[in-house]
Amino acid sequence: MKIRKSMPAATLMAMITCSTLPLGAQGLKDVLNDKFLVGAAVTMSQVDGKDSGSLAIIDRHFNAVVAENCMKQEVLQPREGVFNFAEADRFVDFASRHNQAVIGHCLIWHSQPAPWFFTNADGSEVSAAELRKRMKTHIRTVMTRYKGRIKGWDVVNEAFEDDGSYRQSPYYRILGPEYIALAFRYAREADPHAELYYNDYNMSNPGKRQAVVKMINGLKHRGLRIDAVGMQSHIGMNYPALSEYAKSIESFAAAGVKVMVTEWDMSALPDVYQGADVSVKADYDKSLDPYPDGLPDSVSVRWNRRAKDFFDLLLRHAGTISRFTAWGVTDRDSWKNDFPVKGRTDYPLLFDRHYRPKPVVEEIISELK
Ligand code: XIL
Repeated sequence: MKIRKSMPAATLMAMITCSTLPLGAQGLKDVLNDKFLVGAAVTMSQVDGKDSGSLAIIDRHFNAVVAENCMKQEVLQPREGVFNFAEADRFVDFASRHNQAVIGHCLIWHSQPAPWFFTNADGSEVSAAELRKRMKTHIRTVMTRYKGRIKGWDVVNEAFEDDGSYRQSPYYRILGPEYIALAFRYAREADPHAELYYNDYNMSNPGKRQAVVKMINGLKHRGLRIDAVGMQSHIGMNYPALSEYAKSIESFAAAGVKVMVTEWDMSALPDVYQGADVSVKADYDKSLDPYPDGLPDSVSVRWNRRAKDFFDLLLRHAGTISRFTAWGVTDRDSWKNDFPVKGRTDYPLLFDRHYRPKPVVEEIISELK
């Protein structure tokens, strides 16, 4: 059935109400309980209770949450030494009330950094010693605040390019590859009981896969701890090949870490760019936004089939996978509506704009229960 935005409100309400019935009491977290955590990225409007439709889904289906934005550096330490934990505190309290594992995202990332992080007061670039100090202070202060309440942290996010070369981020330019090991060392010192993760997109690319395996080996060789690798998994209908994705799961497992799917979404739209570098922007064009009024059945069927294939792949690797997290709850709040093209109508998540589970969710539940 094709849902149009112009559908009368009464019809829509009736559909929303009915839609919660067929699943019975079981949610994804119940049927996946003995396999891996299942979670979603949440926004502040959800944390603050302003989106009751999403809250019902979060409660019923997810046992892990990650903050979509409120634990990023720019939010947590807007000025040097001035920490703003207001939103992050509410987020962590929310997770405790809902009995969910909390994932911290993220400590060291070139994107959404604290604006002052790489520069001195006079505008010049900081020295290596100063950057080390700032990293250590940020990591220690943030991790200490949430000690015992956070299951694990994305310690470093997106250090590599798709071909496996180091991303030329300010961290890399100032400190060289050493910054990754430093981050993991500071993180372990700050909270020895939190799990420590490396997180990146396009992890099924052979170049990135090899670089990440090499990094894991390097950290371990130096006696540092890395518990898991996060495959962000902002994917599309035509990429990546699931066989390549499987190879990465297996390579990371062979290097001795758990694997997590950390930011899953699957765009249903034409893929102008295959990846998740948030600085990429493409111009809007109507041809890139073909389904503003609803996803045609034929596309929806293909989307659900590929999502199911993806889940089956995870289930086959359940011993290695420790968590699946979707990057958002419903299609209405997905960042993919604005990335990489602003203002499109995308359909990338497990629940639709009317808070209804997509067929793949019902299929997983009925198969596993
Ligand atoms: C995205 C958020 O979803 C957006 O709201 C924000 O404007 C930019 O960042 N990789 C990551 C996430 O690790 O933090 C990014 O989240 C998506 C790509």
